[in-house]
Amino acid sequence: MPKIKVTNLQGEQRSIDATPGLSLMEVLRDNNYEEILAMCGGCCSCATCHVHIQPVEEIALPIMEEDEELLLEMADHYDPKRSRLSCQIELTEQHDGLEVTLVEVE
Ligand code: FES
Repeated sequence: MPKIKVTNLQGEQRSIDATPGLSLMEVLRDNNYEEILAMCGGCCSCATCHVHIQPVEEIALPIMEEDEELLLEMADHYDPKRSRLSCQIELTEQHDGLEVTLVEVE
């Protein structure tokens, strides 16, 4: 099972199972990260699943679609190098070692 490292808003890091086929948002919610509000349920229309992902060359992420990019550009704590909507990332075995930092959503 691939593992991802998650840092919460308090700076605490823990390693969790990343079930392939689920979105990153679903895995975070399943692991009780209540900071991930995911108000639209994963329809790419709310940006309340915003996270920062540590870029690692060996770990490819899905290409960002235009609607995701537009939402992120309007979001607080937007970082063009690290911001993603976690509902738009379907996890695979290749995501083992991914590092994710939760972002405060206001
Ligand atoms: S859950 Fe709404 S954009 Fe991801």
